[in-house]
Amino acid sequence: MPDQAPGFTPIHAEFGARVSGVDLSQLVPDSVFEAIDAAINQYSILLFENQNMNDAAHLDFTQRFGQLEEEHVTYYSKGEVTYIGRVGNIDNDGNRVSVRQIKSSTGNEMWHSDSSFREIPAMYSILSAYEVPDEAGETEFASARSAYQRLDTPTRERIESKIGIHDYIFSRTKVGEDAVCESQRTYMHPVRQRLVRQNPVTGERNLFVGSHVKEIEGMLDTEAKPLIAGLIAEVTRPESVYRHRWQRGDLMIWDNRCVLHRGCGYDADKYRRRMHQTRVRGLGPSIAEVVDVKIPAHCT
Ligand code: SIN
Repeated sequence: MPDQAPGFTPIHAEFGARVSGVDLSQLVPDSVFEAIDAAINQYSILLFENQNMNDAAHLDFTQRFGQLEEEHVTYYSKGEVTYIGRVGNIDNDGNRVSVRQIKSSTGNEMWHSDSSFREIPAMYSILSAYEVPDEAGETEFASARSAYQRLDTPTRERIESKIGIHDYIFSRTKVGEDAVCESQRTYMHPVRQRLVRQNPVTGERNLFVGSHVKEIEGMLDTEAKPLIAGLIAEVTRPESVYRHRWQRGDLMIWDNRCVLHRGCGYDADKYRRRMHQTRVRGLGPSIAEVVDVKIPAHCT
């Protein structure tokens, strides 16, 4: 009997789909995986509900998309490699994490693209919900592809070949100087990323901005700061945002190359929030990516 094809139902007018008919706790057949893989290029975020996940299944699924990216907080603060990141306020032993860690994670409440502070930024993030607060704790998403399509031609021409400087220390210390440790200051250096990226499969272009962008190469701060803020504002117009209210068993994949996201905050003293996250390493540095010289017809 042929494998049943997964169903995809849009969850927002601009991007995103709910996937039905897939059990990610089991190894999904190649044909099903290929449909999911193609759907990410189309929808940018995918939601799978009622999944009975565990870390082994989560890692297996992640590795089908490419190379695992090591979780950056543990890697840059302790030098240890782990591929399952903890999102929320619960540690590996089921205990509450430190006040410093909670403070640092509030940096995720600014619009960002995961790992854009790495020379090779993350391609996908995969987040699985195990414990969720009774109130708040949502995650918001916005399409930087739709935003690019809304830009006028002079703005597209102005940013076309620009390079943004992304810096984790710059963005994290916005929530407090103690939100990063000494070893993160030593090893996490600013990196160069294209301001405009292009999906290698569909050819669609998008903005690549977010809280980690400190400056734009060759541009005075007086010009760059309002430009960065304006581009982030364009991506995250309220009507363009999808806000996800998590249920236990939800799993989401998002394409960091063309989506911004942010946590919405919650009462970390009152509620437990435990999510496990993996990331798929990008295919290479964004500055090495090929972007068509001419602005394509669908954008003009
Ligand atoms: C993240 O920024 O990767 C997680 C966002 C969240 O906590 O909802």
